Amino acid sequence: MAKKLGLERINGKFRGKNILSLDQFSQKDLQIVFTKTRKLKENNPRKGLNLLKGNIVTLLFFEPSTRTFSSFAVAAKRLGAQTLELTDPMKVSSFVKGESMSDAIKVLNAYSDLLIIRHPVRGSLQIAADVSEVPVINAGDGIGEHPTQALLDLFTIHEKFGRLNNLAGLMAGDMLNGRTVHSLIRGLAKFPNNKIYLLSPRKLRLSKKDFENFQKQGIELAEIYKDSDIPKNLDFWYWTRVQKERFRSLKDYNRVKNKFILNKKLIDKYAGKKTIFMHPLPRVGEILEEVDEDERAVNLSSEIKNGMFVRKALLSLGLERK
Ligand code: NCD
Repeated sequence: MAKKLGLERINGKFRGKNILSLDQFSQKDLQIVFTKTRKLKENNPRKGLNLLKGNIVTLLFFEPSTRTFSSFAVAAKRLGAQTLELTDPMKVSSFVKGESMSDAIKVLNAYSDLLIIRHPVRGSLQIAADVSEVPVINAGDGIGEHPTQALLDLFTIHEKFGRLNNLAGLMAGDMLNGRTVHSLIRGLAKFPNNKIYLLSPRKLRLSKKDFENFQKQGIELAEIYKDSDIPKNLDFWYWTRVQKERFRSLKDYNRVKNKFILNKKLIDKYAGKKTIFMHPLPRVGEILEEVDEDERAVNLSSEIKNGMFVRKALLSLGLERK
């Protein structure tokens, strides 16, 4: 019988733990991840390390991915582990529902030391983790969470401002379905005096449940529906894609897609000299290429690089033998 690991607090001890939600982290846990990330960042990233030699890290991705998949795979390999990579498993097997997912997890447990899973159903990672005897990392569960993306976002914000408190930011796009937003808000809620403006079409507001839950965690949220309500000189703008794959009809998607576009004009009007522009990527028209040259745009530079280092840090904290 597999032991039930569930949503356990990290409490300074990463080894053997699942990483499913930002709710598991305390401020101190985040500091541990960031200290490790900084240390790994000081090394030449091309120089391989042997910290995880002998480990097999399995990547099981039921949804497409470019950055999360590659950065985890490269992070594992550069640390000396080997990877078992299962992309598009629906083609080779027919497990969609909870039960058959459990079987797959049991099989992969026999071959792996850690599982990294992306799945289209919110909450499915908890089910996977409950079945698994090796730690599971959530690489995105439907419209639920994307904790490792939030960790790299928080690391990037901290790198730029030297703090994670007293921040005022904007999140724009799809608040309802965007899992990166759901994890990042949870992360920022752990620090005092943060305020986030949420800019979205009304149909894509946070669910009432999420909104209330996040506010209870201690973050101030303000919903806005027009560009002209963006306060000037915020610390960061976090733009996101409207999540097409979560819509029932293309017509509904077309009605709300790209209502808010990050372009030079908007920047000149509302951004400050120090405002940074973030985006988890992929972008599909909601952030124009003309923004790429702006040195305040970190979405194609720091965020991508930090993604690999943060994931390296998580893997080594989770698997390394002391
Ligand atoms: C995000 C995701 O998969 O949730 N991508 C990523 O991992 N960087 C964002 C998105 O797909 O819009």
